[in-house]
Amino acid sequence: MCGVVAVIGKQNASDLVVEGLKKLEYRGYDSAGIASVSGGALHTIKSEGKLINLIEELSKVSKANLQSDSSIAIGHTRWATHGNVNVKNAHPLTSESKVAVVHNGIIENYESIKNQLISDGYVFKSQTDTEVLPHLFMKYIKLGNNFLQAGRLVLKDIKGAFAFVAMSLDFPNELFVSRNSSPLAIGLGEKSNFVGSDAHSIDHLTQRIIYLEDGDHALIDLDNVRIFNINEENVDRKIINIKAEIGLITKGGYRHFMEKEIFEQPSVIPQIISTFIKNSYEINIDLNKLGFKNKNTLLISAAGTSYYAAMVGKYWIEQLADLPVIIDLASEYRYRKPSVFGQSAMLVISQSGESLDTLMALRHGKELGLNTNAIVNVEGSTIDREANYSLYTRAGAEIGVASTKSFTSQLVILFMIAVALGKKFNIVTQEQLQKICSYILSLPSAIAEMLNMENEIKSVAQNIKNAKSIIFLGRGLLYPLALEGALKLKEISYIHAEGFAAGEMKHGPIALIEDQVPVIMFLVSDGNEDKAISNLQEAYSRGAKIILIADRDCIKKAPFAHYKIEIPNFETDFKSLLSPFLMAIPAQLLAYHVANERGTDVDQPRNLAKSVTVE
Ligand code: G6P
Repeated sequence: MCGVVAVIGKQNASDLVVEGLKKLEYRGYDSAGIASVSGGALHTIKSEGKLINLIEELSKVSKANLQSDSSIAIGHTRWATHGNVNVKNAHPLTSESKVAVVHNGIIENYESIKNQLISDGYVFKSQTDTEVLPHLFMKYIKLGNNFLQAGRLVLKDIKGAFAFVAMSLDFPNELFVSRNSSPLAIGLGEKSNFVGSDAHSIDHLTQRIIYLEDGDHALIDLDNVRIFNINEENVDRKIINIKAEIGLITKGGYRHFMEKEIFEQPSVIPQIISTFIKNSYEINIDLNKLGFKNKNTLLISAAGTSYYAAMVGKYWIEQLADLPVIIDLASEYRYRKPSVFGQSAMLVISQSGESLDTLMALRHGKELGLNTNAIVNVEGSTIDREANYSLYTRAGAEIGVASTKSFTSQLVILFMIAVALGKKFNIVTQEQLQKICSYILSLPSAIAEMLNMENEIKSVAQNIKNAKSIIFLGRGLLYPLALEGALKLKEISYIHAEGFAAGEMKHGPIALIEDQVPVIMFLVSDGNEDKAISNLQEAYSRGAKIILIADRDCIKKAPFAHYKIEIPNFETDFKSLLSPFLMAIPAQLLAYHVANERGTDVDQPRNLAKSVTVE
């Protein structure tokens, strides 16, 4: 999703902005641009596609002209919302070559503003909602306002979710920034200051970060950052020291970030486990803080892969703690009038901590009186800051758009919550708790063994890479995994894929089965496997290409399957309970290898964004 970077007070500001934009590449974008001031003129350079194209354009322009004497620059990576992907619609958007703006979010009332500005004589060159911003600044500057006053008048006119940075030739030593719902960080330097969509985009410049709060605006020059709240009162916001994550943007010898992140799971998971398991048998989660004084219904809300983690969490919590759980897609929750009858706590799950749908769901839950908690990967993200209590996956930066290590890390925390609740409500005994903890501690080696199945999965990938449509099936705890497997595959291979509860096949989806349609089932012996195998048999009888990923006992029961991938044998009483951890691995590897076979852009798939900051 759109990324914003700005630098004031450093020579070669454009180069530094480009460095920041590179760190935002993982979020997903389709065009990029940069504006700087030098020689008393505003220079804007934009290009379609990857940043490399912008860098080429920049190198074409004489350094003397554009960069060397420029100490103020703003830059942007655009993920199209309003208007096609082209250079005209790329940011920065300008007005009369004097004001330039970069923006992340959507100006919802842009049409009426645009009509007014057109009748005032302003000429629009793009189809974007953003272009109203530079023209509004221009209008108010022409009326004799200084930059701060002009910015405040702009804010009074606009509605929507936004984070933007504006610069003007009339005020060449100032930046005006504001945020409402979309993320924005300000970095503090020596005789220089910086702005970025996240702290990481400017951590090559400073480690002292301020996060603006919703409704804040700020005027930034090289010496000062003056921040004002929605009532235009001067406010102090906390300065946070961040650690630069060295080596963050390297692939560490892997072909893709996604591949690296899949293979990081055996080392990431022990770190989370060690945060949450004490003395090998105690779970270190404050259930009172989560809001579980009584046995109330828990609401979990999330988007995408995080939602499928929520779904697994529901099954676990209901099974282990006998506590009712409602799961709700974040994008739906906010726009309903949900009943909170019997509820006291809400849990949102988000890798980025910035998904606007999830943030809005959290705010909605808060308004409805729920105690809000979050599972997030990015500490300091908006959701982390707004939740009453956060549990961190600490999986490290996830760069590949398709979530992998974050998913399994979220599952670890959800499982811990389920077990802790089970213990609290006397459903899980101390003896069981100890057994479960000891199995959890061996989970990283189980996941490492699953990763050894890569070659077998790769050969299945070669066999299904040309399919038009692929069906994933699962039952019980593996139903959410079927959904996640299908999501992973469609996200990065662009093959149409759907996940279904195996028992639902006969109620509709079976109509999709025709000769050679791949049907992939995740299965472990859980006492219901015979029913699932019957569902598979029904697909087989209609000509489907059957791929069974299962334990040995299940495989023996389905000799008809065309491809049988046997998962390693894990001796545990809790095999079926823990099966989502294990099946996440083949689901990820299969999507990864199919995408690789098809030669798609695995880390930055078309149209997708890592951090979705629009609704
Ligand atoms: C986007 C990504 C998905 C991700 C979802 C939720 O749609 O493409 O991979 O699962 O956002 O993201 P979050 O950061 O809130 O977990």
